[in-house]
Amino acid sequence: MTQQRYTGRVALVTGAGSGIGQATALRLAREGARVVGCDVDAAGLEATAKLLAAERYEADLLNADITVQGDVERVVAAPPGGFVDLLANVAGIMDYFLPVGELDDETWDRVIAVNLTGPMRLCRAVVPIMRTNGEGAIVNVSSIGGLTGSVAGTAYVSAKHGLIGLTRSLAYLYGPEGIRTNAVCPGGVRTNIGRTAFPKSDWAFRRFEQSFDRESRTAEPDEIAALVAWLGSAEARNVNGAVITSDGGWTA
Ligand SMILES: NC(=O)c1ccc[n+]([C@@H]2O[C@H](COP(=O)([O-])OP(=O)(O)OC[C@H]3O[C@@H](n4cnc5c(N)ncnc54)[C@H](O)[C@@H]3O)[C@@H](O)[C@H]2O)c1
Repeated sequence: MTQQRYTGRVALVTGAGSGIGQATALRLAREGARVVGCDVDAAGLEATAKLLAAERYEADLLNADITVQGDVERVVAAPPGGFVDLLANVAGIMDYFLPVGELDDETWDRVIAVNLTGPMRLCRAVVPIMRTNGEGAIVNVSSIGGLTGSVAGTAYVSAKHGLIGLTRSLAYLYGPEGIRTNAVCPGGVRTNIGRTAFPKSDWAFRRFEQSFDRESRTAEPDEIAALVAWLGSAEARNVNGAVITSDGGWTA
């Protein structure tokens, strides 16, 4: 029987239409959470809705872009009763492995907007709700690209390092108010992130191949969702400001 660590809790999950976000939405629903999920990809959300409905879970799935402030406000206002117990910032995109010497402003701006500014805006929106409650948990899905420079391009690595900074800042400032913020750094995971991960720079990709040779296994999305669910639960009440790698030993 699945654990029920989220009974009566509201979990807000971004990127819920695919990969790790979809697995997180499903796992949290199975553990009793009322899930509010969002994604820019309407077809992906429909697929998630079908998976949830097949197991008879009710959820609010919103087509929303986390880079748009109005959409962020709509998502955070969606939970019944206005409560948010867990925010899982999962949505993210890759950067075509572009090194800074070949990086265009459009790619930089979009990657920073989705992978860093969007999560910051969601944190900014939920913190007042969690402060009123006197508790809450935020889990930011960073990457081993948030710890090293060897697995993605400059924009992705910069954004994911920034997300760890955001995590630690919140953990330090709001920990005493009962809000725990932690980051998860996956290695390779079998998802649809490849849509923005085909290499646009042959030169840079030859460098990355040395790092990919060290990758020992590719995880399933639910293996990362399991870590997100644990961090957001009361079992992790002593964990705040942690940056936890789940990469099968890739960076070991
Ligand atoms: N797959 C991996 O190997 C891997 C490794 C390390 C970290 N990550 C991180 O995991 C997270 C989830 O990625 P995934 O691998 O499940 O990829 P995915 O592409 O399968 O899922 C990401 C989802 O985010 C959504 N999204 C993108 N931009 C959005 C926006 N502006 N607003 C709302 N939703 C948006 C996409 O539509 C997609 O459904 C990302 O932050 C990614 O950087 C993935």
